[in-house]
Amino acid sequence: MANSEWHYTTSLIILTTILLNSACLTVGCYSRIFSFGDSLTDTGNNLKVFGNFSRDSCSQLPFGETYFQQPTGRCSDGRLILDFIAQEFGLPFVPPYLGGKSRDYFRHGANFALSGATALNHSIYKKMGVSVNTKGGFLDVQVEWFKKLLNMLCSNSDCREILENALFLVGEIGVNDYAALLTAKVPFTEIKEFIPGIINRIASAIKNLINLGAKTLVIPGIFPMGCLPASLTLYKTNRAEDYDTTTGCLMWLNKLSEYHAQLLLAELDEMRDLYPNVSIVYADYYGVYNSIMESPTQYGMKETIVACCGGGGPYNFALSLACGDNESRLCQEPSEYVSWDGLHLTDAGSKIIAKLVISNLYSESHFTMSCSTRQQLKASY
Ligand SMILES: *[C@@H]1O[C@H](CO)[C@@H](O)[C@H](O)[C@H]1NC(C)=O
Ligand SMILES: *[C@@H]1O[C@H](CO)[C@@H](O)[C@H](O)[C@H]1NC(C)=O
Ligand SMILES: *[C@@H]1O[C@H](CO)[C@@H](O)[C@H](O)[C@H]1NC(C)=O
Ligand SMILES: *[C@@H]1O[C@H](CO)[C@@H](O)[C@H](O)[C@H]1NC(C)=O
Repeated sequence: MANSEWHYTTSLIILTTILLNSACLTVGCYSRIFSFGDSLTDTGNNLKVFGNFSRDSCSQLPFGETYFQQPTGRCSDGRLILDFIAQEFGLPFVPPYLGGKSRDYFRHGANFALSGATALNHSIYKKMGVSVNTKGGFLDVQVEWFKKLLNMLCSNSDCREILENALFLVGEIGVNDYAALLTAKVPFTEIKEFIPGIINRIASAIKNLINLGAKTLVIPGIFPMGCLPASLTLYKTNRAEDYDTTTGCLMWLNKLSEYHAQLLLAELDEMRDLYPNVSIVYADYYGVYNSIMESPTQYGMKETIVACCGGGGPYNFALSLACGDNESRLCQEPSEYVSWDGLHLTDAGSKIIAKLVISNLYSESHFTMSCSTRQQLKASY
């Protein structure tokens, strides 16, 4: 259906119905995407920060082999959830902030996500003696980068237009915080005490963006950490009761992801009251990941808790032999695996999660309204 057929329609009900029934009409809904997060979302900032040959930059084959046929810095054999979201909205892949300098390079948005990024200032973890894989690109720093970019892209009134028409993806972020605390052997009950602080940082980043003028924000929770081949390897026990009998995931670690989700949801609810004109949407990465774990074949998946690429063992993961290292083992069919390297998703896994997340977004009243309202505003210009 051509834009012109509905461009001048003023009935919100009709617009909403059309939007719900025809995903293709959302193309053009957002003119840019700005994204924040860690290696689940990094599309190449890591190459600039860590260099080409670091594990942190996922820069050696077989990274990238499935979709790009070469490493791009994405920690996957192909696309990330962010890439599928961009494709859904008819936008090109979101370029890494550190990858370019011109206005033209950022005409469809910018990605500030950096591998290893934490929500909290990483110096906290350094003090605990944990080496966090970041050279400073934690969440507040990413927001600072965004402000810098905005200064380059626009001034006052054009900034408003850019911000109002942009989709903001803030997260996933937080997994590296929990990983750092776990590595520092902080007891589970004490890790729980960090969650409010972590959520608070995420909330403050969101508020910063809203105060700058952001109008549509999608905020993902974190994956069930107890389902990742890396955690299953590192926290393996002989106690059958530690494991979920259906999924094989470690239940105590999933609890951590659940607490994170609970507090994040409560925070987002508060923010919706605070900013009634801003669309703040939760993306349930946890629930969606869990659905795949519970019935993988329904999604065309065969392996849920074994990584496609890694250092062997029951979950094909080893700290000493990472995916991309010389002797690491690579599966035959990455498209049948949820996990690429024990921590990150395959192209196929990202695709399923993105699809489910996007279809949930369409059923979110906040989100659909935001898009249709803007289309309506455009029509009345
Ligand atoms: C990484 O290596 C490739 C091939 O050697 C080179 O073209 C590229 O410029 C390098 N990237 C960075 C960020 O150094
Ligand atoms: C991070 O923490 C360190 C140590 O407390 C501090 O010096 C630095 O300014 C902080 N960085 C930011 C961006 O808040
Ligand atoms: C929200 O939008 C309405 C209608 O456009 C406007 O009257 C109101 O001032 C706005 N509220 C805030 C908090 O911006
Ligand atoms: C991987 O193999 C190449 C060629 O045999 C060798 O030069 C290189 O040092 C090896 N790298 C590692 C990390 O073992």
